[in-house]
Amino acid sequence: MKGMHHSRCLALFFAVLLGLFSLSSEIEIKNQHRELKHGDSNYVFNHTLAITLAQYSSAVYTFDVSALFSWTCARCTADKIKDFEMVEVIVDIAYCLQAFIGVDHNLNAIIIAFRGTQMLSIRNWIEDILLIKLDLDYPGLPGAKVHSGFYAAYHNTRLRPAVLSAILKLKNTYGNISIIVTGHSLGGALASFCALDLVINSGEKDVQLMTFGQPRVGNAVFATSFNEYMPKVIRVTHQNDIVPHVPPYSSFFPKTTFHHFSREVWLHEEIVGNDKQLVEQICDNSGEDPTCSRSVYGNSIPDHLDYYGIVLSSDGSYTCKLISTDGVEEYNEGVEGNIRLSRNPNPTLFRQSS
Ligand SMILES: *[C@@H]1O[C@H](CO)[C@@H](O)[C@H](O)[C@H]1NC(C)=O
Ligand SMILES: *[C@@H]1O[C@H](CO)[C@@H](O)[C@H](O)[C@H]1NC(C)=O
Repeated sequence: MKGMHHSRCLALFFAVLLGLFSLSSEIEIKNQHRELKHGDSNYVFNHTLAITLAQYSSAVYTFDVSALFSWTCARCTADKIKDFEMVEVIVDIAYCLQAFIGVDHNLNAIIIAFRGTQMLSIRNWIEDILLIKLDLDYPGLPGAKVHSGFYAAYHNTRLRPAVLSAILKLKNTYGNISIIVTGHSLGGALASFCALDLVINSGEKDVQLMTFGQPRVGNAVFATSFNEYMPKVIRVTHQNDIVPHVPPYSSFFPKTTFHHFSREVWLHEEIVGNDKQLVEQICDNSGEDPTCSRSVYGNSIPDHLDYYGIVLSSDGSYTCKLISTDGVEEYNEGVEGNIRLSRNPNPTLFRQSS
């Protein structure tokens, strides 16, 4: 039994590999600037917000932690995020995770961004994900199963305590402001668990989540519960990005396989006249809309690393190495001394922008 399951997964993996580099993304993209409304919900997909959060999800990959903390890194100067008030950068060295928290005064919201995988070979990382299991009951949600690795990467590392204390600090300064959680790839999986945690365990009322190219993280019951607790969720996917297709979903076994939560917004190119235009397709509320990314063969790594022309991958070395202005320090699994750069929020910034 176990062997059979294994070989099916491997067969799928090789099928996926075959198509890996068949797609080139060297086409001109023309954005259609438009705001779209969900068919049956009041929550609106906002194109401008999507670009903004993709810029944050790109910035959190920044290798130089001190440039990230001082918000002087190259990606930190992107147009929509340059006025960000950074409050905390967290690096969990043992698990090679990175996140930051601060305030976007234009959005009047706390932003929490999680970095994706730092592995040199994204293909190896995807291979790992293909084999993961629904091996953990999500606490307090009967029947909801998730993958323990994604769950633990947020809950059982330095990330969660640092996020919770930073939110307390920010709420003390700014009062009742909303929270937006974002991330790309593995960072999208971490962002999902963080957002749900804030609603379920911290009682936060106004939490939004937008992820880019995230993998599936739980089963159908988890997806349903997720959407009940988290009505303001957008899961952006891009063209043939492979990662939203893993771990596999099977329409024959919808209850026992991984299942996405809604709502997907699928970015893809369409030919309009002589132009290629980027379409932002608002998908149905099933989480597994067959007319969105599931309508294509998910086989592209380049499509995974580029959303709206924004680079979503590491800006430096692909190892867990820490570079700061104080020099270079390499860290390996098991090394102690996680990094947490922290400052107090600055209420004068708030007054200036409002
Ligand atoms: C979309 O979000 C931007 C901020 O990112 C905001 O200025 C704009 O009003 C929003 N549009 C709608 C239709 O809500
Ligand atoms: C905080 O904000 C939320 C969402 O905007 C609102 O529903 C709630 O009433 C506010 N609470 C307070 C104490 O202002």
